[in-house]
Amino acid sequence: MERLPDHVRVAVLDADDLTDEHWIGLSGGDDDPFEVSTGVQLTWLAKDRYVALFDGDRMVARAGLVVVPVLVGVGADAVELDVVGFGGVIVAKDRRGAGLARAVMTEATRIAGTLEPAVGMLFCLASRAGLYAKLGWRDIVEPVTVEQPGGPHTITDHTMWTPLRPGASFPAGPVHVRSLPF
Ligand SMILES: CC(C)(COP(=O)(O)OP(=O)(O)OC[C@H]1O[C@@H](n2cnc3c(N)ncnc32)[C@H](O)[C@@H]1OP(=O)(O)O)[C@@H](O)C(=O)NCCC(=O)NCCS
Repeated sequence: MERLPDHVRVAVLDADDLTDEHWIGLSGGDDDPFEVSTGVQLTWLAKDRYVALFDGDRMVARAGLVVVPVLVGVGADAVELDVVGFGGVIVAKDRRGAGLARAVMTEATRIAGTLEPAVGMLFCLASRAGLYAKLGWRDIVEPVTVEQPGGPHTITDHTMWTPLRPGASFPAGPVHVRSLPF
């Protein structure tokens, strides 16, 4: 297992435990660190829990996890499965470029692996996909739809998956996430 950077400890928090102070420390005052303020405005799913890295009392990185049902394929060949959705990944603005995203994703993946689903899934901008590819995540190239208040919506962001158990794979076919995106 990869070692955490010096001085950094991991904690698992309920979404309700996240504070404005944590957010200000992570975003560094940036109003839109995820760059979602332009383009299609999506409604996002609240996460079940956050895996967070702390340096002393300061939260320096976090990744959210939420278990969601998905349908892959069409007709009689369609497969229903649960996945662990990863989202809300962010590193404190003044601590980026030092391996903390790798560290928090490694911890989040380890913790996700203790849950029931065999695979993880995430959405990201194309400009972030290289990060996750370095961590072993793979592209889902088939169309992906998610639920929105107005009905199903086809995702234009990158969608990626990772195995949470040895040998786990993502089924082939178009993907319908039976929840808001995460
Ligand atoms: C994207 C973000 C989480 C990366 O955090 P970070 O701490 O700088 O990343 P790390 O230092 O752990 O990078 C790990 C590796 O991924 C690479 N990497 C990081 N961001 C990358 C990107 N956007 N594209 C391609 N590679 C990237 C690093 O070069 C590093 O490579 P290496 O291990 O070969 O040296 C951070 O910039 C951030 O919080 N951005 C704002 C919020 C955001 O966009 N979150 C992602 C939502 S999907």
